[in-house]
Amino acid sequence: MANKILVTGGAGYIGSHTSIVLQEAGFEVHIIDNLSNSDAAVMDRIAEITGKIPGFTQLDLCNSEDLHAFFDKHPDIAGVIHFAAHKSVNESSTYPLKYYHNNLTGTINLLQAMQRANCHNLVFSSSCTVYGQPDQLPVSEDAPLKKAFSPYGNTKRMCEEIIHDQAEADSLQAVALRYFNPIGAHHSARIGELPVGIPNNLVPYLTQTAAGKRDSLKVFGQDYDTHDGTGIRDYIHVVDLAEAHLKAISRLLEQKNKEAFEVFNLGTGTGYSVLDIIKTFEKVSGVRVTHEITDRRAGDIEKVWADPAKANRELGWKARFGLDDMLRSAWAWEQSLASRNDS
Ligand code: UD1
Repeated sequence: MANKILVTGGAGYIGSHTSIVLQEAGFEVHIIDNLSNSDAAVMDRIAEITGKIPGFTQLDLCNSEDLHAFFDKHPDIAGVIHFAAHKSVNESSTYPLKYYHNNLTGTINLLQAMQRANCHNLVFSSSCTVYGQPDQLPVSEDAPLKKAFSPYGNTKRMCEEIIHDQAEADSLQAVALRYFNPIGAHHSARIGELPVGIPNNLVPYLTQTAAGKRDSLKVFGQDYDTHDGTGIRDYIHVVDLAEAHLKAISRLLEQKNKEAFEVFNLGTGTGYSVLDIIKTFEKVSGVRVTHEITDRRAGDIEKVWADPAKANRELGWKARFGLDDMLRSAWAWEQSLASRNDS
């Protein structure tokens, strides 16, 4: 079976973990990335972990000529996993056109290049943000999609729709994976999340506070209708997510998909509050996290967690790691970054 997989955005957080899992499973990986929010040094880290350096081309998906030339040069690509996108919720509200242009144009160009190259298998990186605040929890894939609270979230829903339409119209076979909240890092602590500037997301902010880089973690609101008043999310280990991508692309390559466009929730099925996260982090790290309760953050939903039954059943995938593992690995990664900066 042809086994070369193109990973767009493969130098990023989830893309790099997925590239490792693919290489460990025997796939040949070629990464394209414009390095707008990542570093080419990630290729060396992947090589250290797997013993094999992935193919790499610095390329922006918004440049369709370069993309066509890339597919002409690599006619043996069996499938594509598409991560490349801007992903900051905050930034997207300030610069909506930047997000709509990059995320939609990149996806459309990729679909056109795949069509022209007769490459039919696509796994798309989507998000639970497409559900907004669901009416029922846990949320399953047949819940209605809602307008997201941010342009970023809207781009995920719109890209799903574009891919769905193309799969109905043409020979494209596609899987959209709706991630809940990815956290943690590879157990080697050689790769992980590399937020540029002040992190927006809870866990990188928390580990930076524990490491002394930030004074205090702000807990955004304690008046939600949850067991302790703080927001609830379904946190999922990035290595579990990576393994789901291997299952999804294999399903397409083995032609085991039941429809031309399928969606799967990737979560553990358990929700934890912000205070649960802080307590668990303090337990596994032995480090106290200075924190304070502040007002709610605009655009936050109250609570969400997944019904992952469809992914469990159809992909044969189940999250293996619990919250302790996720937070332990996030802390090991933060510490390895600190020791690299010191040396
Ligand atoms: C957001 C996006 C999601 C995206 C994810 C990763 C929405 C609705 N969700 O998730 O699509 O995939 O970012 O980029 O757009 N919190 C604090 N203090 C902090 C930071 C966060 O209390 O300093 C709280 C939040 O209020 C929330 C929880 O921690 O309850 C998780 O927040 P965060 O890590 O930012 O992720 P989401 O907003 O859930």
